[in-house]
Amino acid sequence: MRDETLSIHAGYEADPVTKAVAVPIYQTVAYEFDSADHGAALFNLETPGNIYTRLSNPTTAVLEKRIAALEGGVEALCVGSGMAAIHYAIVNIAEAGHNIVSTPQLYGATWTLFEHFLRKQGIDVRFAASDSIADIQALIDENTRAVYCESIGNPGGNIADIEALADCAHKNGVPLIVDNTIATPILLKPIRFGADIVVHSLTKFVGGHGTTMGGAVVDSGNFPWERHAQRFSMLTQPEPAYHGVVYTQQYGRAAYAARCRTVCQRNTGSVLAPLSAFLLLQGAETLALRVERHLENTAKVVAFLDNHPQVAWCDSIGRKGTPGHALAKKYLGGQGGPFLTFGVKGGFEEGKRFYDALKLFKRLVNIGDAKSLACHPASTTHRQLTPEELERTGVKPEMIRLCIGIEHIDDIIEDLDQALAATGDASQPMARAPQLRLAASRG
Ligand SMILES: Cc1ncc(COP(=O)(O)O)c(C=O)c1O
Repeated sequence: MRDETLSIHAGYEADPVTKAVAVPIYQTVAYEFDSADHGAALFNLETPGNIYTRLSNPTTAVLEKRIAALEGGVEALCVGSGMAAIHYAIVNIAEAGHNIVSTPQLYGATWTLFEHFLRKQGIDVRFAASDSIADIQALIDENTRAVYCESIGNPGGNIADIEALADCAHKNGVPLIVDNTIATPILLKPIRFGADIVVHSLTKFVGGHGTTMGGAVVDSGNFPWERHAQRFSMLTQPEPAYHGVVYTQQYGRAAYAARCRTVCQRNTGSVLAPLSAFLLLQGAETLALRVERHLENTAKVVAFLDNHPQVAWCDSIGRKGTPGHALAKKYLGGQGGPFLTFGVKGGFEEGKRFYDALKLFKRLVNIGDAKSLACHPASTTHRQLTPEELERTGVKPEMIRLCIGIEHIDDIIEDLDQALAATGDASQPMARAPQLRLAASRG
């Protein structure tokens, strides 16, 4: 079935007992065993079923199936946040002494996790000098366990060449992990281009209403762990943390997802609450529609900002004349993405005046809400980074990121227009052309 249909139906058929059409919220911690033998078979992973919600929950299972279906994966694990998903995706296959190789432009908290937290755990994250395959390849050695990228970088808006990165990773016998939060599976399905593991912050566009934290790790089922059995012994040898199970033997193509659940989640407990799973499912139902409107409105805002005299520069995802354009054609069907960055003329101070003057846009650190959102990354999400680190992650000090919501486009543009009018030298009346607004609004 197509995305619009999968978003609404995948993973659930009316509950056989109650006939409930909406997915029930199984607000339970534990599940009753029929007998001691039944309990033993569940613990031995011989019989499918639920034991304890830190391992699995029927409401969350529906979300897991839905996300796996949308991404084209064999199985997914849903966890408490996007950061937990990224952490699990890595520590499921990398241990102290190993390294992963990452593209440089990443979401701020991911960068901090990699640069500081994982390094202290003995996992060396190597940031390539650029997204180029030569720069990635130069950092891979026998201790590398994965290559990592964001399909669309946040907030840089850079588009990863997933196919080339996957080829490079596979030539070196390691999987490619892709954070697909910004693109969403509606715009891009990384597994189709060779990605092995896809991670998500469901908190963003999938939930879509700024109400619920969640994350997902999707296993494509395609990586040949057994071909690289020594390197991935955690999947191909008896697992001491789960009474000796050999994941590739017991779970076949879903070995990676099964270990992520029964070792990472079971032992460290980043669990998605069943109510959160339910709320994220509500969001998922309208994902395709919302993404369409986000993109349409974003393109109109870009047209407006491009022509505004108070705007110094405006970068949108995959725009003509940028290196991202060809990649957007290949990976995003020629479309842009759901946010943009721009700088107000006059630098940091004028940018602040613009930011403070916004009325409809919310000033916050979030993306992927139905509401229009504005953020100043250098003072918020990326504030812990040094100027050199900011440069490396592609964040300019004056940069403002707008995540365009699904409100009426004329209201969005009127708000930007009045906030831009609050900037610049008050003695110099702005040379704004009112027709720009109309032109943008008509697309
Ligand atoms: C690309 C990307 N990955 C991961 C995350 C982290 O997600 P969460 O806030 O759900 O932990 C974010 C958050 O903004 C993000 O933008």
